[in-house]
Order: sequence, then structure tokens, then C-alpha cells
Amino acid sequence: MNILLTGGSGYIGSHAAVVLAQAGHEVVIYDNLSNSRADVLERLGRILGQAPVFVHGDVRDAALLEQTLRHHRIDAVMHFAGLKAVGESVAQPLAYYDNNVIGSQRLLQAMQQCGVRTLVFSSSATVYGEPQYLPIDEDHPTGATNPYGRTKLHIEQMLADLAVSDASWRIACLRYFNPVGAHESGLIGEDPNGIPNNLMPFIAQVAVGRRPQLSVFGDDYDTKDGTGVRDFIHVMDLVEGHLAALNFLGGNAGWHAFNLGAGQGASVLEMVHAFEHASGRKVPYQIVDRRPGDVASTYSKADKAWQALGWRARRGLDEMCASTWRWQQADVKQKKESL
Ligand code: NAD
Ligand code: UD1
Repeated sequence: MNILLTGGSGYIGSHAAVVLAQAGHEVVIYDNLSNSRADVLERLGRILGQAPVFVHGDVRDAALLEQTLRHHRIDAVMHFAGLKAVGESVAQPLAYYDNNVIGSQRLLQAMQQCGVRTLVFSSSATVYGEPQYLPIDEDHPTGATNPYGRTKLHIEQMLADLAVSDASWRIACLRYFNPVGAHESGLIGEDPNGIPNNLMPFIAQVAVGRRPQLSVFGDDYDTKDGTGVRDFIHVMDLVEGHLAALNFLGGNAGWHAFNLGAGQGASVLEMVHAFEHASGRKVPYQIVDRRPGDVASTYSKADKAWQALGWRARRGLDEMCASTWRWQQADVKQKKESL
């Protein structure tokens, strides 16, 4: 199939490009480079033997989208493009509604115009809001706690409405838990701008010496060791889940939601120790106050994806940490070389 990846030069989209191309699909990346760099294309070329086609564009540009969908005879879209920083979304809600909600609406309109009706959407476990029970299955009530989460919920609802209006749409909303890790080559990975908000990139930057120590946000939660528990999922498992969802949509019309998680939780300190083991480096840390808005524990029930898609996460914490470490070292080396 010919598959358009909006946001395809970003962290998750670039890994999806690898898995899809290796499964024999033609991949077209459509990205405005607001949170990624064009050199990802060259690195994808090194992994795949040939770089995917790249279109520099914004998902809010309906005309360019239509032109791209037609010109490349696109059969299906994976929609990764979006802004994703929770704190920033609180400070700049309009930018988030514009980019995420309006961007998705324009994309859907362009797809409808061009007769492309298969979509895999990057949703998030954030649509479940505060966990009311664990593990979280797809029937858990939804409700977001910040503007970023609300954009994901609005988009999911828009997609559900669309599927009701026209039974030929095939839509999968994939609710990611905590994606971490990198491709085994060390050529692509997560490269956050500025100080990382998320745990794994922060640990990696401490291990490599870019930051002196990790702040662990609270050790008095009601969890196995008092620190927060999350459902970390290897990014390669996550993108294999996208391929499985695409195959599923081939035989199933309508709107579908799936959790993509490992189905089990790991604590912050377990992650620190796994990273120390994988890297052979110490990760100094200090316990500080809880981060406002954090919950003690959240993790998925991932049975629906296993039953319907035949997919489940296979890679463990060691592989998540080892691949992040490989990428972190290579990334630092590449940045030094380009100075
Ligand atoms: P990322 O920022 O690395 O990738 C997103 C890409 O989209 C970037 O390359 C950016 O340049 C591009 N983009 C943003 N706005 C665009 C626009 N208007 N037009 C065209 N391109 C645009 O983020 P990621 O971690 O790869 O996340 C991908 C998707 O998955 C996002 O929708 C995000 O909300 C969702 N998600 C991510 C996580 C996570 O932890 N990484 C968790 C849950 C859901
Ligand atoms: C955060 C986002 C969520 C998003 C997800 C992407 C918030 C409130 N939620 O979730 O919307 O989908 O990232 O993966 O921002 N921690 C530390 N020290 C740090 C960083 C994190 O102790 O420097 C702890 C946190 O308190 C938490 C755990 O590590 O217990 C994971 O944090 P993080 O990686 O930010 O993910 P989430 O909070 O689950």
C-alpha cells in the first residue's frame, strides 16, 4: 500500500516508517518539521537502503494535502502530526486546538475529497483521565485533565462521528501508554528540545553526562517502592502495533480504539536501575516533591489488541533501556561532529 505518515519525521512516525517500509509498503512522510529535523530522512535512508519520499507541509494546509494524497495515490494515512507537551498545552491552548484539532479536521476533509478512508490515529492513554480502576481497558471512562488530552479526545470523537456518517471509513484510534526506546541501529530515536519532561530521555541525558542528576517526583505513593508506576512500551513494539492495526482495518470498517501498552507497570526506580544495568553508568538521583497532576499508577489491559490485532508488546525494560542508551550515545556523537 501507499501510506502517508503525517508527522512521519518525528519520534514515533520515523520508527513507523521503518516497520512499514520493511513490510513492503511505500511510505510518504508529510511533516512541517516543527519538532523534527530533515536529517531523519537521510538516517532512514541508511536503515532502509533508500529514504522515504518527503513532503514538507503542514496538516492544516488542505490544498497541499489533497495534492499529496492524489499525486502519491495514497491508500491509507497514519496521523502522527501533533503537538504533545502537556505543560505547553496549558500555557498555549489555542495553539494545541489549532494544530491538533483543526489540523486533524483538515486532514479528514482532504482524505474525504480524495476518497482515502483508512486512518490510523495516534491517540493517547491521556484520554482516560484519572484512572478509576487498573488495569485500564478500552471501556474505561474517558475524560481529559489538560488541553493536550482534550485535543486527543475531541479528535477521537470527530473520528467516531465520521465513521457513523459514512460506513466506508476504517479508523483505528491507538491509545499509547508510555513509548520509550529507539531503533536498534541507534540512528533514530527521541530527541526532545530543551530539558526533557519525560522520564526516559531525562535518565538517558543524566547517564551520558548532559545533566547532573534525575529528580524523582515523589517516593511516597502507594506503589511497590513508593515511586510512580507507568506502562512503558518499546517504540518498536508500538509501531508494529500500527502495522497490525492497518492489517486489521483491511477486514474491518468502522471506528475502533485499542490500547497499545505492555500491560504491566514499572516504577521510576525500576527504570533507573534497568538503565544503570543497560548502560553500565550510574544515574544519580534525588527524591523531590510530587509533580502536580501526576497519578500514582497507571497501566493498560492490552488484551483487546491481542485478540483483534494479534499484537502484543514483546520487548522488556532491558531492551528499552539498551536501545535508548545506544541512541543517546550516537546522538551525542553526531551533535559533537556537527559542531
Ligand atoms: P514528535 O513531536 O516527535 O512527532 C510529531 C511530528 O509531527 C513532528 O515531526 C512535528 O514536526 C510534526 N508536526 C507537528 N505539527 C504538525 C503540523 N501541523 N503539520 C505537519 N507536521 C506537524 O512526537 P511523537 O512522540 O512522535 O508523537 C507522535 C504522535 O503520538 C503525536 O500525535 C503525539 O501526541 C502522540 N503520542 C505520543 C506519545 C509519546 O509519549 N511520544 C504518547 C501518546 C501519544
Ligand atoms: C506524560 C504526560 C502524558 C503523555 C506521556 C507521554 C503529564 C502529566 N503526562 O505522562 O500526557 O502521554 O508523558 O509519555 O505530563 N518522573 C520523574 N522525574 C522526571 C520525569 C518523570 O520522577 O524527571 C516520573 C513521573 O513523576 C512519573 C513517571 O516518571 O511517575 C513517568 O513520567 P513521564 O515520562 O513524564 O510520563 P507520564 O507522566 O506518564
